[in-house]
Amino acid sequence: MQAFESRVAVVTGGASGIGLGMARAFARRGMNLVLADLDRAALDAAVDELRAAGTPTIGRLTDVSKLEEIEALAELTISEFGKVNVLCSNAGVGIPTSSREMKLEDWKWIIDVDLWGPIYGLSVFLPHIEAAGEGHVNATSSMAGLLAGQMMGAYNVAKHGVVALMATAERELRARKSPITASVLCPGPINTNISRHSVEFRPGGGKPKGDGERAGRTAANIQATLEQGMPPDEVGDLVADAIRDDKFWILTHPRWAKGVQNQVEALRADQTLTDVVMVPRKKS
Ligand SMILES: NC(=O)c1ccc[n+]([C@@H]2O[C@H](COP(=O)([O-])OP(=O)(O)OC[C@H]3O[C@@H](n4cnc5c(N)ncnc54)[C@H](O)[C@@H]3O)[C@@H](O)[C@H]2O)c1
Repeated sequence: MQAFESRVAVVTGGASGIGLGMARAFARRGMNLVLADLDRAALDAAVDELRAAGTPTIGRLTDVSKLEEIEALAELTISEFGKVNVLCSNAGVGIPTSSREMKLEDWKWIIDVDLWGPIYGLSVFLPHIEAAGEGHVNATSSMAGLLAGQMMGAYNVAKHGVVALMATAERELRARKSPITASVLCPGPINTNISRHSVEFRPGGGKPKGDGERAGRTAANIQATLEQGMPPDEVGDLVADAIRDDKFWILTHPRWAKGVQNQVEALRADQTLTDVVMVPRKKS
């Protein structure tokens, strides 16, 4: 998609982290914005910030795991701006628990938000974007959409699903020569509020207890890694540039693709699941 000025973007999970980074990047390129999120305080702050900088912006409290709320989001977008050009299905949650101990409500919650959210988004918004005649559909997966590490079963399942969803969409759009393009964002560690939001929004609230200390250690390791991660505003620019340049795969840490290559090599060589380190070390 070449032009951004006066085009309309909808970003779910747009009040914080990567979603807010995308919203800021789109605002800098002259787009009008619709932000959807469950965190009311963060949503109000994000809308105020973008409006103060001169970007026409509306915010809508939305649970992406509910079809009727995505439908209402689309109606609001059309009634406010008359069209929609870009959808970023980005809202997501994740909590470390082993597959043995993860409660079924947690499996369902994570898959509902992380996978059904993007499915509802694509299903409801794509016809509107095609009606606008130019645009792009994007969804946030993760490197966990390409490699399945321990303790993140529901997240891995959902994020692999998001990669499949967007790859299918992209092939189908190309096959029917649609002017609409598609991409998938697969971030490595980004410094955001995902751990806090996930604990806050988990059904019943709080951290899972099943794995005892192991879950606590994993969560602490993940948090430490995220805090060293890429600033989310940088991710926003990567996404905007990928949409402009018509790139399907958006990797924030391309070095991590080596882990995917290792997995394919193990598949071809001996059909074991590779025990090669999934995340290659930085060259010193
Ligand atoms: N932070 C990372 O390192 C990282 C890495 C890979 C992928 N991701 C993915 O990036 C996306 C954005 O996460 P983030 O890291 O910016 O975290 P974040 O918590 O800062 O932002 C996510 C936003 O989604 C919102 N949200 C959560 N559940 C929702 C729901 N049901 N409906 C609507 N909004 C909801 C939250 O309120 C929050 O504002 C997620 O899909 C996440 O899985 C993050």
